[in-house]
Amino acid sequence: MGNKFSKIGFILAAAGSAVGLGNIWKFPYIVGEYGGGAFVLLYLAAILFIGLSAFIAESFLGKISESNAVTAFEKMTSTRFKESTLGTIEEKSSTASPLWKYAGFMVLSGLVILSFYSVVLGWIINYIFISFSSLSTDVKVAEETFSSLISEDIFKQIFFHTLVALTVVWIVLKGIKDGIEKANLVLMPLLGVILLGLFVYAISLDSFSEAVKFMFVPDWSKIDEHALLAALGQAFFTLSVGVGTILTYSAALPKEANVVKSSILVTIIDTGIAIIAGLTIFAFLFEAGAESSGGPGLVFISLPLIFAKWGIIGQIISISFFVALAFAGITSAVSMIEPILLYFIERLDYSRKKAVLVCGSIFYVGGLIALLSMSKDYGEYLTFFGKNAFDWMDFVTSSITLPLGGILICLFLGFVVDKELIKSHFLKSSTERIFNIWYATIRYVVPTAVSILMLNKLGLF
Ligand code: PFF
Repeated sequence: MGNKFSKIGFILAAAGSAVGLGNIWKFPYIVGEYGGGAFVLLYLAAILFIGLSAFIAESFLGKISESNAVTAFEKMTSTRFKESTLGTIEEKSSTASPLWKYAGFMVLSGLVILSFYSVVLGWIINYIFISFSSLSTDVKVAEETFSSLISEDIFKQIFFHTLVALTVVWIVLKGIKDGIEKANLVLMPLLGVILLGLFVYAISLDSFSEAVKFMFVPDWSKIDEHALLAALGQAFFTLSVGVGTILTYSAALPKEANVVKSSILVTIIDTGIAIIAGLTIFAFLFEAGAESSGGPGLVFISLPLIFAKWGIIGQIISISFFVALAFAGITSAVSMIEPILLYFIERLDYSRKKAVLVCGSIFYVGGLIALLSMSKDYGEYLTFFGKNAFDWMDFVTSSITLPLGGILICLFLGFVVDKELIKSHFLKSSTERIFNIWYATIRYVVPTAVSILMLNKLGLF
């Protein structure tokens, strides 16, 4: 079937979606902000107790319904599926609220994330070119390079954003098997090799032990409720839960595939890469005597500055690093748009070409708005309530729609979908005890913890 993943294709594509700018850029920067080890422990706990459970839930919903996100909620609401003793699925009518089908519109978040994600990916491509020619050892020049790109070089940004948009469109035009799976089969191993190469180089540095100490020896003094919430938010974003991406990919799994095992594997890969990227970046920073904190400029100002000081080796490392970041970002970007594409194709009867054209145009324009909102000349027209459009897109998705999507999936699976159906799938690869723990987690722990995160971020408590 042209629309199904192979098993390995699914693992690579789901890992490709999860591993992105969130791992290599954002994770090290928040670890730095919250003082290292203690935050890493919180993050690992958030992944293990919340992120993984929500990931399994989303994957289950896709696998059981075998549909796009909107149809998945509708199908599982209007008919209650039960697995009979003979192993066949029986349909019974359900009493669940028809309103559940609107939960499927979480797929819209993908277009909003993609709008600003594509702009950041554009900066990364720009830095691949800068790595070839003009890395500077001067702090002022490095800062100026980044700030002028964002506030003045509108056409350069539009050019790179267009390049990224065309790449994403080109991959998704070919569909799941020939586009997304193939791109991941090539890009993910390359990403792994580059990251491993950079990691090995980092291990050879004297500063590596300092990086290990920083990442794994907890300093609880910087931990407060903000750190806890940041860890929880990062767990969601990094695993790509709450957009319908994992659901959509899981719906294209072969029949015999096992969602529990594959979810655990993807979570291990995603977490492993975040840790490896963190250790590598901190070893580089400490080697140059730089600070562990750094904010968004860490990747675009501090690292290039350090690479420039290392001469030709630094240049090679810089190129490899930004290429790896671009690969990680592209495989995540294609995963954000696929859920909404499937909605257009399956529900509105669009051809894939037409769906890609419509959705591609929406996120392309969204990206233009995002980048113009940071520019010196147009920023003020695109700033609302003190936040520019770029920051709004980031805020609305990571603080509202993504966690909301995660909660809805967990509640839906925990309270609406037939327990026995889920259980029988789950037990194919796990024990009853683990099932019970997971089931209680998606019913109570995830919704409670994530509601607290959202309300806090919204300043409501
Ligand atoms: N997980 C991606 C990252 O860490 O960069 C971001 C992401 C991808 C979020 C896909 C949501 C999504 F649907």
